[in-house]
Amino acid sequence: MPTAPTSAFAYIDLFAGIGGFAAALESFGGTGVYSVEIDEAAAAVYERNWGHSPLGDITKVANDEVMAVPAHDILAAGFPCQPFSKSGAQRGMDETRGTLFFNIMKIIEAHHPTVVILENVRNLAGPRHRHEWEVIIDLLRAEGYRVSEAPAVFSPHLLPLERGGRPQVRERVFITATYDPDHILDHDDVPVPVKHLSERGDEEWDLTQDLPLATEVDDPRYALSADEIKWIDAWDDFVQRIWEAEREKHGDAAKLPGFPIWFDEWADLDTLKIDVGVPAWKANFLRKNAELYTRHKDILDAWGTRHRVHEFPPSRRKLEWQAQGAASLWDCALQLRPSGIRAKRMTHLPALVAITQTPILGPLRRRLTPQEAAGLQGLPAKFDFGTQRDAQTYKQLGNGVSVGAVWHVLKAHVERDAAILETTEAGRTILKAVRDDAPKTPDEVLPIALARGQQRYADRNAETRLL
Ligand SMILES: C[S@@+](CC[C@H](N)C(=O)[O-])C[C@H]1O[C@@H](n2cnc3c(N)ncnc32)[C@H](O)[C@@H]1O
Repeated sequence: MPTAPTSAFAYIDLFAGIGGFAAALESFGGTGVYSVEIDEAAAAVYERNWGHSPLGDITKVANDEVMAVPAHDILAAGFPCQPFSKSGAQRGMDETRGTLFFNIMKIIEAHHPTVVILENVRNLAGPRHRHEWEVIIDLLRAEGYRVSEAPAVFSPHLLPLERGGRPQVRERVFITATYDPDHILDHDDVPVPVKHLSERGDEEWDLTQDLPLATEVDDPRYALSADEIKWIDAWDDFVQRIWEAEREKHGDAAKLPGFPIWFDEWADLDTLKIDVGVPAWKANFLRKNAELYTRHKDILDAWGTRHRVHEFPPSRRKLEWQAQGAASLWDCALQLRPSGIRAKRMTHLPALVAITQTPILGPLRRRLTPQEAAGLQGLPAKFDFGTQRDAQTYKQLGNGVSVGAVWHVLKAHVERDAAILETTEAGRTILKAVRDDAPKTPDEVLPIALARGQQRYADRNAETRLL
């Protein structure tokens, strides 16, 4: 049985949430010397699992006047994405004033941690945030960091299970940087080589086995309501009937419609009117819905009447079938979204999000449980959410970072910058912990690191009771 090393390097965890970064960094053998999180519920879960409370506001502890954050070797931050001001003539730090990135930079200026790892939504590297991206890279470089301009975009479904991957498509951008004021390596752009490592390919995941899903969950909190069953049954009947009709015409080449199906917009092609000004994508969907309806008018009229579809709430009168090859809606992972019922194959799930759209597992006829959702983020079964409401747990997980993705990205980063890290004691410690001693997957060591964190929490509570 492998053991997680103790106290290799010191790390800080900013915008700590419930500790996705802590999970990876503790498993590498790091010690959390500081963490900060403004949300009380998330901070309480963090404390239960990692043994210290991050509760606080970064703007109060790291600013122009105050620096309450101690020195450390690795700085980790999954920070909220905010636009920088473009108004001032001066570029640089001033533009970030008033944003939370400003506070991160204050800590970097004060301590120059050896390695910085930042995580954000993929959009931060997209065209709308080009300015923010450039300012972040420029500021890190101005502080002496080796950092690539090329975004390292990664998702846990791109890693094999044996390397800490999970069946969740969650693309996030990572910015990783190494302090190298003497330019030991040249600072030309060398992207961090985060590549697709899964040999199985995206579609080869199997949620049921790979997560794995629990087979016996008999808890009314995860059961489907009578209405939900009615909606899914109705749309499953739609799938069956269209499938049959298309197969009669096209045989094995038959396909179900891949465009969004909008019951409210079904109209005869002859009478279809598309208003001027309707965007092209929408006009295209309206035309396709009319074609579908015209082709199968009798079947679809009878279907609508039989299930009284006109009485469903508007968002349940729409289907997004993204599960080519599945035979039934009940074979799919389903999401009841404002834009309709979305059906996908049971290979991998879309990103958990902070808003409540807990996926429904068709074959199991229930929702994903909080433990399974935690598993999708790479957190072990023993991760303790206390007695908080499930909605809080799903929200915190939706905000979190994938443990396997952090593991992989940090390993790739230290390998890229090994020559710099070799030159300092902190760097050598990080290299040993992250590159040399760590197993291929955090899953081998995370349960031990978590048990240690939970023990710290128990010990502190016992101490407080004695006082
Ligand atoms: C994207 S989440 C990071 C989640 C974390 N990486 C995890 O794995 O759970 C951003 C977090 O920043 C916190 N936050 C927002 N403003 C903050 C502030 N001023 N000080 C500290 N934390 C803040 C939010 O409450 C949220 O939990």
